[in-house]
Amino acid sequence: MIIIKSQQEIAKMAMAGRIVAEILEELKKIIRPGVTTLDLDRHAEEFIARKGARPAFKGYRSYPSAICASINNQVVHGIPSASIVLTEGDIISIDIGVVTDGFFGDAAVTLPVGAISEEAKRLLEVTESALYEGINMALPGRRLSDIGNAVQRYVEQNGYSVVRDFVGHGIGTSLHEEPQIPNFGRPGEGPRLKPGMTLAIEPMVNMGNWAIEILEDNWTAVTKDGSLSAHFEHTVVVTDDKPEILTRIS
Ligand code: MF3
Ligand code: CO
Repeated sequence: MIIIKSQQEIAKMAMAGRIVAEILEELKKIIRPGVTTLDLDRHAEEFIARKGARPAFKGYRSYPSAICASINNQVVHGIPSASIVLTEGDIISIDIGVVTDGFFGDAAVTLPVGAISEEAKRLLEVTESALYEGINMALPGRRLSDIGNAVQRYVEQNGYSVVRDFVGHGIGTSLHEEPQIPNFGRPGEGPRLKPGMTLAIEPMVNMGNWAIEILEDNWTAVTKDGSLSAHFEHTVVVTDDKPEILTRIS
């Protein structure tokens, strides 16, 4: 069942979303060569506490950290570590979730570390635009699979591939609610979207093939072919009009 949120509930989700957006802005400021992914995690955790919120990922299925920090060929779920030092030219995906007043917010961005290659830049641009292609389909009367179809078409037109093994999700009083939101598939299938549905849309895009594998830590997903990967995510609410992005400072 897809839970429709009331205006009061959406206001709470907007609070959670705002905190997520603010942390991502904070982390953007400190990302540079020499910083470790554990530094980023510490910063995020401190910021979340200062806002009176709680990290959503820490403890979720025993995940150890507040953020996921995934570098270069890592797709998602990279565990922050003192031994992972950012280097000029890297790309880093940061995924953050928080819960405040009982409601969750979830977002991710992929950022450059210093100067990056033109091809890496293009991957980030295409992946972020693919997220917006998906968000633009979050309209009342559309069907759920229109989101993934729009993402997939955009990504493949640009010569990249979308990861199949992870999907976006409904979000609310849990990090993951129904429905699952694949980033691929045929249009016009699945439930009709309705105002008050709150969705975390999160394309993961590989420069090469979409196949991934999981490292020995049982979390970190990497591309099988070693190609670069990017990830962008927003929590959005379907309205009578345009979708509203909750994890953006506006
Ligand atoms: N954005 C991801 C998701 O919603 C992050 C989950 S990381 C985990 O699934 F540690 F919480 F699993
Ligand atoms: Co998510």
